[in-house]
Amino acid sequence: MNQDQLKQAVAKAAIDYIQPKLESDSIVGVGTGSTANYFIDYLADIKGQFDGTVASSEASAERLKSHGIPVYDLNAVDQVVVYVDGADETNPQRMLIKGGGAALTREKIVAAVADEFVCIADGSKWVDVLGAFPLPVEVIPMARSHVAREIVKLGGSPVYREGVVTDNGNVILDVHDLQITDPVDFENKLNQIVGVVTNGLFAARNADVLLLGTENGVETK
Ligand code: A5P
Repeated sequence: MNQDQLKQAVAKAAIDYIQPKLESDSIVGVGTGSTANYFIDYLADIKGQFDGTVASSEASAERLKSHGIPVYDLNAVDQVVVYVDGADETNPQRMLIKGGGAALTREKIVAAVADEFVCIADGSKWVDVLGAFPLPVEVIPMARSHVAREIVKLGGSPVYREGVVTDNGNVILDVHDLQITDPVDFENKLNQIVGVVTNGLFAARNADVLLLGTENGVETK
């Protein structure tokens, strides 16, 4: 199977995983990216079986609405039973790097609210140590240079993602040259830099379940 077929396989597996948990008033959290897009398309097939969704990006909200799936403001819902999203990297502890699509802040918010976080990823995302994929950090625009200098002090090489403005009106620094051996500690250190909105490490709140697409089928980690 090629990478796209693996993404489709894990998206379908996520539907099979969440379907028994859904009730008529359930709200499903929906992530962002190409794997999440496959999940959205499969979710349309079971849209009578839950109430609606909250989305982690404007792009995902538009795709959900195009299928006739209700999308709610997160402030208007009491509970998100499950959040399903992709990742750029995952380690064996299901700690993730996310934000390749610049949606990391809303992704982290929905993941924080959800009762359960199901990550769907093709096997290329599996690593022993996080950091080969440049770590996205969302930054208040006026703090960009300050945050970049502080990140250099932590050993990273930040690169401004030119031309990208997040759904929240901020900018992204992608941090190269990292080997993140203590993801919770590094996530906390980045959060303490004034001007950082969110960093793409999902370590303190990791995924509860990882559905990983491999040549041997979808493995549950
Ligand atoms: C979006 O900001 C990201 O966190 C995505 O979840 C991540 O980049 C995975 O994207 P793909 O599913 O397209 O690989």
